[in-house]
Amino acid sequence: MSTQKKDLLTLFDYSTEQIREMIRLAAEIKARRHSNQYNKLLDKKTGVLIFEKPSLRTRISFETAIYELGGHVINLASEAVGVGTRESVEDVAKNLERIVHLIVFRTFGHGKLERLARSSSIPVINALTDSHHPCQALAFGLTMHEARPDTKLNVLFAGDGNNVCNSIMVLCAKLGHNFTFAGPKGYEPDADVVNRCLEVCAQSGGSVKVTNDLHSAAPDAEVIYTDVWTSMGQEAEAQERRKLFIDYQVNRALIETATRDVLVSHCLPALREEEITSDVLDSAHSVAFEEAENRLHIQKAVIVHLFS
Ligand code: CP
Ligand code: NVA
Repeated sequence: MSTQKKDLLTLFDYSTEQIREMIRLAAEIKARRHSNQYNKLLDKKTGVLIFEKPSLRTRISFETAIYELGGHVINLASEAVGVGTRESVEDVAKNLERIVHLIVFRTFGHGKLERLARSSSIPVINALTDSHHPCQALAFGLTMHEARPDTKLNVLFAGDGNNVCNSIMVLCAKLGHNFTFAGPKGYEPDADVVNRCLEVCAQSGGSVKVTNDLHSAAPDAEVIYTDVWTSMGQEAEAQERRKLFIDYQVNRALIETATRDVLVSHCLPALREEEITSDVLDSAHSVAFEEAENRLHIQKAVIVHLFS
């Protein structure tokens, strides 16, 4: 097995400089979408997408990114492959590495992604696990680079402290932003992720706070981020979560208490009128759809990094 290969499993594995460089490169690639120097990077190379959960953005942006970098894509139906059921995670990895050049994997437990990455000599990209969504956070980083360049930001995450929240928190810590989580008791981000972010902040100058009081946190917010209250795989809890999260809705009243030009984002898909109201998601404050487009550009930059 090669010791040279690189993966993107979480942003903890990347330095501040590497993250800044990927964002800079993504902006350059975006400016010259069809005429940049990377359009043949994946010539004669194949990327495999295996998604154990539904997806719109991640699937189409990776498929388009690999195609526009000159590569070929195979979209595998996860039930047909059975990673860890039809055969072991390790055996799937050992087969794929002999034929293709890149694996993009969306799954539930983060440990399964780590096992796949450990067992293969080709790059593995996290397309979302229950714990992390690094590509989303990088797209947020690119979106902030465009909307608020070179600015230390107060970022408020309202909602559930799971995958998207964790990755936005790691990105903010790495880039030296001030990150505040506000969500209901029992749904805060895991203490070990928070503690690792605090260690990163000691170097970067950023900060991380966790609170259950959204309305006290809002006045300082320059960016408000949210995500669904019920993530994929938690559908049975939807009704209970709707009651628990109701005070954490991102709506017009909340926006009016934040800083004047507050930006609002969401990883999407949004459950309109649940975690975010349409009058906010469709307002001039919202950069959610720009961020969705930026998935394409930043993922090209990630692939350039992994293959260079
Ligand atoms: N934001 C995001 O990852 O969207 P999909 O689940 O549609 O890929
Ligand atoms: N937290 C959401 C993010 C979807 C992109 C989920 O895991 O379903």
